[in-house]
Amino acid sequence: MKGLILSGGKGTRMRPITHTAAKQLLPVANKPILFYGIEALKAAGIYDFGIIVSPETGEDVKKMVGNGDRWGIRIEYIMQDQPLGLAHAVKVARPFLGDAPFVMYLGDNLIKDGVAPLVDRFKSGHADAFILLKEVSNPSAFGVAQLNDDGRILCLEEKPAQPKSNLALVGVYLFNQNIHKAIDEIKPSRRGELEITDAIQHLINTGFHVDSHILSSWWLDTGKKDDMLEANRVVLDEMTEATMEGAIDGNTRISGRVQVGKGSKLTHCTVRGPAVIGENCALEHSYVGPFTSIGDGARVSHAEIEHSILRENCRIVDFHGRVEDSLIGANVELTRSEHKPVAYRLMLGDDSKVEVI
Ligand code: DAU
Repeated sequence: MKGLILSGGKGTRMRPITHTAAKQLLPVANKPILFYGIEALKAAGIYDFGIIVSPETGEDVKKMVGNGDRWGIRIEYIMQDQPLGLAHAVKVARPFLGDAPFVMYLGDNLIKDGVAPLVDRFKSGHADAFILLKEVSNPSAFGVAQLNDDGRILCLEEKPAQPKSNLALVGVYLFNQNIHKAIDEIKPSRRGELEITDAIQHLINTGFHVDSHILSSWWLDTGKKDDMLEANRVVLDEMTEATMEGAIDGNTRISGRVQVGKGSKLTHCTVRGPAVIGENCALEHSYVGPFTSIGDGARVSHAEIEHSILRENCRIVDFHGRVEDSLIGANVELTRSEHKPVAYRLMLGDDSKVEVI
């Protein structure tokens, strides 16, 4: 069985952060989202990986993920010149996939229970495709499945305005070689993409067997800022270990599950877990509240932060008011101005969002 991870696309919903970074590389609990997918497939016994990348962010993905040695897997990178749809990505990956069965995993998805039981079920069954579903409150944002009373799939629709159910397609799919012929026979959708949802519907229409499973545990599609914060909250909430590889002074109070990386120093701080603080951070006279991830190389001084993700090498110094519910990109500085007149002085990238008190 091979693994196909999709890490292309444009990430437009997460701008400005994704102007300079692939959304699949954004950190959840200080680990790139993409790594969760790779690890889930590896845990299901998959060693042969193809990763779909785009011309814009492909190099960053390759640099961050590498050749797979760190997980003991083999990775081939597959360039998709334009984000023409999930089924298009499978088409581009055909030379890598050959006729092998494969798991397709969307690189911005996180699922709690991994994929090992699903891979086992697919291998031992007779389905041509296997999809995962999850009840959601906003089905129009996803592919949607309608099942009959026996749980058989009646139809699938991509982002319907009037969804026929609240069962969303989760971004993990298992296929045998029959999916390729179905993809060859579908046409681009209204939004101009070759939809995997349409290809699976085509399998059903032409008499192939498509099986499904409804997830009861959590699944997160990290498409937007609030989804990222929710993913960070859920993953930190399940973190079981507190680790201290840095140094804290006698005036620092740490409560709950908190991980502090190598070379980090905390002085006069209060940290309430669950939270992770990366490597080589300097925190002083500051408060770090629950569900916060602070990336490597951060400097936080006389500031407060909670329920937020701070990427690497940020500086928050003498900042008034608590930073909350925030996703902050790499190398960002939040400081108090010493100059008169007192004013907000901002340098914000395109599509930035700022809320002030
Ligand atoms: O997350 C589950 C949903 O994923 C499903 O319910 C939908 O049926 C499915 O179409 C998909 O919808 P999204 O709108 O969330 O897909 P998105 O464009 O965000 O792409 C998902 C991942 O695949 C993301 O990591 C980018 C990558 N991608 C996307 C496209 C369109 C590619 O690598 N190439 C592409 O051409």
